[in-house]
Amino acid sequence: MEKVSKEWKTTDSIQPVGRKQFLKMVLGVFSLSWAGMALYPVYRYLSSGNSDATSAESNVSSVTVCKVAELPVNTGKNFQFGSSPAIVIHAQDGSFHAFKAVCTHLGCTVQYRSDKSLIWCACHGGCYNPDTGKNVSGPPPKPLPALVVKVENDSIVVSIT
Ligand code: FES
Repeated sequence: MEKVSKEWKTTDSIQPVGRKQFLKMVLGVFSLSWAGMALYPVYRYLSSGNSDATSAESNVSSVTVCKVAELPVNTGKNFQFGSSPAIVIHAQDGSFHAFKAVCTHLGCTVQYRSDKSLIWCACHGGCYNPDTGKNVSGPPPKPLPALVVKVENDSIVVSIT
């Protein structure tokens, strides 16, 4: 039986790494990692203009949400308009209103509160007028973008124009 030597022997192909060389390698890896972390958000920002989500939203010009009978007076219904959430409201005067349902504060999805007759954001309590989409209380800085509502063949159709 062959005896295994406990000593490590260096060969010509494997050179021991000195302290200076090791520190250079660590510094190189750290620099590459840092550069990647710094440049990745820039890459994401620059490439976001061509994302599928943006093109999916731009391809949608109208959505049939539901039948009129399915949305009683003083109720709202959230739905997808392309890639972004939207909301349609059957107001107390019988009219319909629709908006993008992305809160203008920090982007949470808003909903209709029948008990308050307001569009409400659960994240920080922001409120919008359900007839105009105007921000009326809480932190939202701007109104909700409006969409156009039409009733066609007893269905509620929401479109951009
Ligand atoms: S995200 Fe809607 S109120 Fe803050």
